[in-house]
Amino acid sequence: MLTKQIPRVVPWVMQRVGGASGGFNSSGDKSNIRRGLTRRKSSGKTDYETDGLTNGREDMRPFVTCHMLCSLDGRIDGTFLGELATMGGYEETGATLKGDAWVCGRTTMQRHFAEKRVFVSRTRHHAGPQPVHVARRSKTYAISVDTLGKLRWSRSDIGGDHLICIVSERAADDYLEMLRKKGISYIVSGRTSVDLARAVRLLGKHFGIKHLLLEGGGNINGGFLQARLVDEVSLLLAPGIDGRRGIPTVFDGMNPARIRPVRLKLKSVAKRVNGTIWIRYEVVRT
Ligand SMILES: NC(=O)c1ccc[n+]([C@@H]2O[C@H](COP(=O)([O-])OP(=O)(O)OC[C@H]3O[C@@H](n4cnc5c(N)ncnc54)[C@H](OP(=O)(O)O)[C@@H]3O)[C@@H](O)[C@H]2O)c1
Repeated sequence: MLTKQIPRVVPWVMQRVGGASGGFNSSGDKSNIRRGLTRRKSSGKTDYETDGLTNGREDMRPFVTCHMLCSLDGRIDGTFLGELATMGGYEETGATLKGDAWVCGRTTMQRHFAEKRVFVSRTRHHAGPQPVHVARRSKTYAISVDTLGKLRWSRSDIGGDHLICIVSERAADDYLEMLRKKGISYIVSGRTSVDLARAVRLLGKHFGIKHLLLEGGGNINGGFLQARLVDEVSLLLAPGIDGRRGIPTVFDGMNPARIRPVRLKLKSVAKRVNGTIWIRYEVVRT
């Protein structure tokens, strides 16, 4: 079952190659590569503070960096990426970003981190508006966005990062009860779908999160982008083309009524392992 003993890896790449090479050892133990996360520094500034990027965080909203690995055509399927890129590159590069939390969409969490069977409510009673539940504070967090409260968890952390579940008011009351019993924190935000903007502000306010790494898949990235919550894009471009129809891309599922592209300002370009290119962009606010 899932990756319980595997501290945050890039499992969508790992799955296929099984930790054979790259920055990972053969047992799949990535403990020497501490995610994109960093223990909060006691002194000194983090990258996002020193590079002059701000998001006007007067409201305590964390700075959001979308960190992704993709093929040249922007597709993010792990099986193909595993053939194209050295797996260690994603985690090692992400670690330099010094985030204190990472977030993934329900599909990615379901596929790689949560238990296989989904939660089935006995009460079928929507929880409605609820206060933020802080089971505990931590230096690093793993966050899932799961509208209905489907994900079932066996523990309250992923590779040492304390778990926070973001759900909508449609999540069942016994789902929240299950989270409380397991020592998992949660935020209920949005009536019918998750209100991402509010949830992200609450992450800053109640958990002290300052730099959130948005790590896919494409649909949750699209949701964050559409809500104007992405401040920076950190993209690892693998040397290869996927090309298949229907494969999620880095930003996907956005409202087709959008009529303007999102403008980016180039920050840096660097060559990484195995011919991968690391590109960082600032999202231009208009
Ligand atoms: N290459 C990489 O760097 C990378 C990184 C991560 C994942 N991946 C791959 O990406 C694939 C999954 O991507 P995906 O795009 O299908 O799924 P996803 O982004 O992981 O999850 C999407 C789901 O999140 C939930 N969600 C809740 N609120 C949302 C909102 N406001 N906007 C959008 N989604 C919201 C929805 O499910 P509910 O309605 O049930 O809540 C939605 O269907 C997997 O194959 C995974 O391996 C690749």
